[in-house]
Amino acid sequence: MGVDLRAGAVELVEPSNDLRDAWLDCRTEWGPGFHEDGFGLTVDDDVETAQGFSDWVERLRGDTECKYRWIVAGERVLGGVALRHDSHELADRLGHIGYGVRPSERGRGVASWAVREVLTLAAGMGMTRVTAVCEVSNAASIATLKRAGGERVDCIGSVVRFRIPVP
Ligand SMILES: CC(C)(COP(=O)(O)OP(=O)(O)OC[C@H]1O[C@@H](n2cnc3c(N)ncnc32)[C@H](O)[C@@H]1OP(=O)(O)O)[C@@H](O)C(=O)NCCC(=O)NCCS
Repeated sequence: MGVDLRAGAVELVEPSNDLRDAWLDCRTEWGPGFHEDGFGLTVDDDVETAQGFSDWVERLRGDTECKYRWIVAGERVLGGVALRHDSHELADRLGHIGYGVRPSERGRGVASWAVREVLTLAAGMGMTRVTAVCEVSNAASIATLKRAGGERVDCIGSVVRFRIPVP
């Protein structure tokens, strides 16, 4: 299914219980058990039950050091992005931004759009640059970061780090 990236057709929205079915549909496609970049899921989160999902959403919404947003088109969750603040304990190691797009929506500009939107969010917070890391073998992620204006800072082991100026 293709996504329409025209203004308004895709939005970044705060995690919400109302999107539970749509989120679970996205996750089923991604593959439960796999790491889902940009969604802030930990092994302690139990998204299978209504209560567990609601607790998880509440945790994400209440996180004062990271903004989580879901990439949503109509009733479909396309992916997720996270923006860690400078003060976040993992910002140095994992970078400020993380993102993931469900397999059926990849290669259509969704991540590029979402990263642009997150940079706008970062600008609103007064950030002037963000960093992102990914595996050196992750060609799609590297292309996404370069497209966003990212410049390679270093590569330690298999992890490459980019710095992206905030417009
Ligand atoms: C990385 C990821 C988010 C890219 O999402 P996407 O919506 O497909 O990306 P876009 O369509 O916006 O494409 C961005 C760039 O990547 C390129 N690209 C997309 N898929 C690619 C692939 N499989 N191999 C090489 N380049 C690829 C596009 O051509 C584009 O580059 P361009 O602007 O130079 O043409 C997606 O592949 C994903 O969710 N992967 C798993 C999770 C992950 O790796 N997250 C990042 C962790 S740091």
